[in-house]
Amino acid sequence: MVERLYKLPVEGSSYEAVMDQVIALRGEMTDGQLGKLASTSFQGQNEMQKLVHDAFVEFMDWNGLFSFRESAAAKMENDVLDICIDLLNGGEAARANLTVGGTESNFSGLHAMRGWARATKPHIKQPEIVAPYSTHSTVHKTAKYLDIKVVTVPQKDDLSVDIEGIREAVGPNTIGIVGSAPNWPYGTVDPIEEFGQIAIKADLWLHVDACVGGYILPFFRELGVELPFYDFTVPGVRSISADLHKYGYAPKPCSTILWRSQGEQQYHFMPINEWACGTYLSQGFVGSRTMGPIAGIWALMHFWGREGYLENAKSILRLKSIIVRKVESIEGLVAWKTDGPLQMIGADDFDITLVVGGLEKKGWSLLGVNVPPAIHLTLDVMEEEFIEKFTADLEEVVEGIRTGEITEEGLLTYGGVGDKALAPKWLLSALEIFEQGVDS
Ligand SMILES: Cc1ncc(COP(=O)(O)O)c(C=O)c1O
Repeated sequence: MVERLYKLPVEGSSYEAVMDQVIALRGEMTDGQLGKLASTSFQGQNEMQKLVHDAFVEFMDWNGLFSFRESAAAKMENDVLDICIDLLNGGEAARANLTVGGTESNFSGLHAMRGWARATKPHIKQPEIVAPYSTHSTVHKTAKYLDIKVVTVPQKDDLSVDIEGIREAVGPNTIGIVGSAPNWPYGTVDPIEEFGQIAIKADLWLHVDACVGGYILPFFRELGVELPFYDFTVPGVRSISADLHKYGYAPKPCSTILWRSQGEQQYHFMPINEWACGTYLSQGFVGSRTMGPIAGIWALMHFWGREGYLENAKSILRLKSIIVRKVESIEGLVAWKTDGPLQMIGADDFDITLVVGGLEKKGWSLLGVNVPPAIHLTLDVMEEEFIEKFTADLEEVVEGIRTGEITEEGLLTYGGVGDKALAPKWLLSALEIFEQGVDS
């Protein structure tokens, strides 16, 4: 049983006493630099953090639900969304909405897709979408909320997308295709152009999950990295989800859903009149939200400009090449070929979870891929000493595995439970529910 013990303190404490505790709790968190590679503390370069934090705090108390009542809020939203449309080559006709994250953006894309299908393909009663196996968990999750079946197509042996498989998976109930730029497990940009051709031919909605790549791949491309096309330049793409709170460096929670035109956006909004206080119209699924993130990203976009984002992308590419070179120099480790800012590290002849275990002991917080097993890195600009520490630790850990010194495995997970004594109660409760089985 999950125990319920904590209660509101009867009396309050002083500012100093409470802040001391807050700072102590903060001190228990993984060091920001050691958590970066797991995206648990995605934060970018030190010199932009203060500006983003300060701008956030200026607007933290304001409710983004009411941005239509405040011209300053509307201006910040408009400026940011126009910039986002520009970065994804949306053009004059494109439209965009703010959301609180990739999950809500994917939900919005699928929700609008389903609305479009209901209007244009009313004979489809059990809608399906087709996606490569590499599609993100939140596509499955939001499809479940929307009662859309996800038909996934296994990756080929080299982990690339089986385009013939995608074509063959399209059936009479298919309403759309979902591709990623890049996908989370393998870090590669899906063949969105081919998806577009299939979508146009079969009259399907193509949604691109560019939550990771949306606001960094344009700069990688500008720096000469060869990438497949994935944005509105590709015919057939009708919606794109792109997270500002990942490589846009907005404070969380902040994401965007972009539409090719108002023709797509018309299926997004959910105006409500059936209640006592007049028309309720929110920007997306979520109601009240802090305006902090929009102020933070507006500030950063103006602080950095195109030049700053390019510099940042350059630093990430440099980090990527340092890590890849190091991995390639260590016998047994394999650096997967990826298109964007994600880098996976697999192992040829030993268990990669031992590397995770060893690196965890050295303080690194890491995520993983299970199929096939690999360490999953979200590359973010790191201080030089931490780049050196990571590469040195990696080498040392592999040596430790070879000599038999390191025997403890780590977890290759995205979520999951580590130490139960430290887990949040909702998670323990969820585990109890799953063990018992859900009532039906
Ligand atoms: C490709 C992709 N889509 C969607 C999401 C979900 O984003 P969020 O956690 O912001 O809801 C993620 C998160 O990592 C992602 O990598």
